[in-house]
Amino acid sequence: MDKILIHGGHPLSGSIKISGSKNSALPILAATLLTREPCILRRVPDLSDTHYMLQILMHLGAQVERASGTVSVTAEKVESIAPYEVVRKMRASVCVLGPLLGRCKEATVSMPGGCIIGDRPIDLHLKGFEALGAAVRVEGGNVKVFAPKLVGAVINLRGKFGPTVLGTDNVMMAAVLAEGTTVIEGAAQEPEVVDLANFLNKMGAKIEGAGTRRLIIEGVAELHGAEHDIIPDRIEAGTFLVAGAICGNGITIKRVVPEHVKAVTSALSSCGFRIESTPDTITVSPNGAAKPLELATEPYPGFPTDMQAQMCALLSTTPGISVITENVFPQRYMHVAELKRMGAQVQLEGATAIIQGVDHLLGAPVMASDLRASAALVLAGLKAKGTTEVGRVYHIDRGYEHLDEKLSELGAHIERVKN
Ligand code: UD1
Repeated sequence: MDKILIHGGHPLSGSIKISGSKNSALPILAATLLTREPCILRRVPDLSDTHYMLQILMHLGAQVERASGTVSVTAEKVESIAPYEVVRKMRASVCVLGPLLGRCKEATVSMPGGCIIGDRPIDLHLKGFEALGAAVRVEGGNVKVFAPKLVGAVINLRGKFGPTVLGTDNVMMAAVLAEGTTVIEGAAQEPEVVDLANFLNKMGAKIEGAGTRRLIIEGVAELHGAEHDIIPDRIEAGTFLVAGAICGNGITIKRVVPEHVKAVTSALSSCGFRIESTPDTITVSPNGAAKPLELATEPYPGFPTDMQAQMCALLSTTPGISVITENVFPQRYMHVAELKRMGAQVQLEGATAIIQGVDHLLGAPVMASDLRASAALVLAGLKAKGTTEVGRVYHIDRGYEHLDEKLSELGAHIERVKN
């Protein structure tokens, strides 16, 4: 298994380009199953998660071609069964359920594995399918949904922890081919949901309200092929902004939508960093002493849960006491034990982390436990004295396109050791 070694304390400067969004690309790739015509997607990031999704599409019968960031998918005929061997590696494989149900009126998908960030149910996805008239059966580790026909309905998808992103995607993808009108209340407003809705509309769907809590979907008889550019990855962008804050002399990220990372740039401004934006770049630079912060994760447009671990790393060496509350995945603190091995002082009280900033962290061997937790360990390593060795880097490769190479370009002393 590969490892990443980071020799800390080397300031970052310069600029890098942000890749296409993983969380947009995955459901949009799944959406290509909704038509027998070819679809062409550009800026699909080169990640293990996008590779898994392409494998799933091929398993389901689609023809896939990939040249650099451009992927073309033609799903002339599709199977409706995605077994455990093909879906087990990635939780987001659950988002083939909606398009398969929409197109074939039945789908069997093994229950998803993936990131270990607490209990991750799919009850809201299933509630949405049932509202459209589908029957749901869970047996032998598989979930089966089937319906003689799908009929539009009013569905509230808001759960105990707020709206569901992939649940909204899934129900939207089934509803585009339902008879009549579907209204999804409590919809997720994330930019990735908007990107999917835009792609579906290019395919001939009739979706209004994307980016708000209420989606109105008028069902159509069939969809056609379309071309689409995936939006920039706001979590990769946020991660590099935090890298710049943690040990930068001023770094610029290019090909970003500043509006999509506003919660992160606001948090960094409150910490005392200088943020300068143009329509598609953001520069973060130091601006005197950094200050502690109190923040809580929320669904978009709030502070993203996918940036919580990286902020923990930053606040670990910010003087004073910072407080983070995780409202979306209350158990998402696997990085804390590893940060503590590097000298961080963090106390967990339920879903709240109380962080006493220390002077410096010390490099140590640490273990990546999930995608964003691993990014946090790399960021901590950039700042730490000595060498940090991050194991299980396959978690990082799931969601960051060439993270080590991009950090190297910015001046980090980082290397990947192949095992
Ligand atoms: C997506 C993102 C993930 C991000 C998360 C929250 C992708 C591929 N992944 O995951 O990176 O961290 O949004 O922004 O886009 N829930 C239920 N029942 C359900 C579904 C969800 O209770 O049926 C709960 C979850 O446990 C969680 C909350 O709702 O507490 C939000 O989860 P959700 O938005 O569904 O996350 P994902 O879409 O899986």
